Amino acid sequence: MNPSVQQYFEDNKSRFLNELLELIKLPSVSADPKFRDDVFETAEWLKKKMINAGADNVEICPTAGYPIVYGEKIIDPDLPTILVYGHYDVQPADPYDLWDSPPFEPVIKDNKIYGRGACDDKGQMYMHLKAFEMMLSNESLPCNVKFMIEGEEEVGSDNLGPFLEANVEKLKADVVLVSDTSMISLDTPSITTGLRGLSYVEVEVIGPNRDLHSGVYGGAVANPINILSKMIASLHDENNHITVEGFYDDVEELTADERAEMAKAPFDLDSYKADLEIDDVHGEKGYSTKEHTSIRPTLDVNGMWGGYIGEGAKTVLPSKAYAKISMRLVPNQSSEKITELFQKHFEQIAPASVKVKVTPHHGGEPVVTPIDSTAYKAAAKAIEDVFGKKPIPERSGGSIPIVALFESVLGLKTVLLGFGLDSDAIHSPNEHFGVANFYKGIQTIPFFYKYFKEMHIS
Ligand code: BES
Ligand code: MN
Ligand code: MN
Repeated sequence: MNPSVQQYFEDNKSRFLNELLELIKLPSVSADPKFRDDVFETAEWLKKKMINAGADNVEICPTAGYPIVYGEKIIDPDLPTILVYGHYDVQPADPYDLWDSPPFEPVIKDNKIYGRGACDDKGQMYMHLKAFEMMLSNESLPCNVKFMIEGEEEVGSDNLGPFLEANVEKLKADVVLVSDTSMISLDTPSITTGLRGLSYVEVEVIGPNRDLHSGVYGGAVANPINILSKMIASLHDENNHITVEGFYDDVEELTADERAEMAKAPFDLDSYKADLEIDDVHGEKGYSTKEHTSIRPTLDVNGMWGGYIGEGAKTVLPSKAYAKISMRLVPNQSSEKITELFQKHFEQIAPASVKVKVTPHHGGEPVVTPIDSTAYKAAAKAIEDVFGKKPIPERSGGSIPIVALFESVLGLKTVLLGFGLDSDAIHSPNEHFGVANFYKGIQTIPFFYKYFKEMHIS
């Protein structure tokens, strides 16, 4: 980093951290209407910070849901433009009693910031504002920049797609830069080169028209929970292959060479198991654990309910049973097609004794990002400068549905420059983000800008 930027970083880094703590205190949970006002307040907070950092034309763009905070700095129309995307909403913090400290009262322990959103995505998104402030502070901003920070990523970004369509001109850029993924470790930096898609459905199994006495009717009338359990169990075969007809039809199979290349990335199965306190892993026959979580599709029950779950025992044969099911998709699967195939299959396997209903939720398409692009090379060089090692390209198992739309609507490729760790417990109790990760991120971003400009122009 140039010496005066480095000095600015040293002089201001503890303030950067305190601002992040302030941001984490705002409970911007997009899924729970109880936090509606807080989500709007977080957008306002961000707007102020964007202005303070030096962005122009900062605005809160309303949508049918939560707003998008937009700001920009156009220093020279002939220079390349970076569109920075992130999200200020967070996952619900439930169950609260499993947190060692309250999720919206962030604390720093063992050099890690604990709080909901610390890593996903407040900490990672805020690095970009601070890196920008730093570059502006000594007039070393090498590129134009546009910030687009949304408040609905954790609920499927339903209103961001239409926003992109309505603002193609405004969002014109050369690349999208996103920090909302993880790296292998600070010692083994990596750059995410793929995200899985998603099909999300809710299913309902409907039995008799009312809850029944399980003695008077039990044995003669189908129990929707029993039936649903059996149906769910049948969705995987003995090789952990998904049984939905046509599910694998479009799955892109990697070549032996590509798989061998992937297998070179460091991964220790024993510490993986030890970390999760499991005696064995699980997964589709014929593929490795790393492959299970990146290049192979999945089907998982996220929640299942019905009947009596209160204190003590109630002898009831419930009228209905429910489950939420997510399917992670890989290139070239289509979320819409998979949802349809699932619906058809689920209706087909239901016995005549029950009715079933499948309700689709949000979805998203998988993406793979190129590693021979200017943007990837700039990101790799930036990482190498700050971490002292070349990053390993690695596909992730998570999803950021809007990334596919950056390409299809805006015609832009994305660089997934994430600084989180898989062990940061995102979406879980005790989510955290390393202070070192936060600082390294802030230091890496200016190098990306610098190299992106140099490589772009040359
Ligand atoms: N930042 C995550 C996605 C992620 C995490 C990608 C770690 C790679 C590594 C994002 O906020 C997220 O949680 N996405 C959701 C999808 C969304 C539609 C709710 C997901 O992956 O479950
Ligand atoms: Mn995220
Ligand atoms: Mn998330």
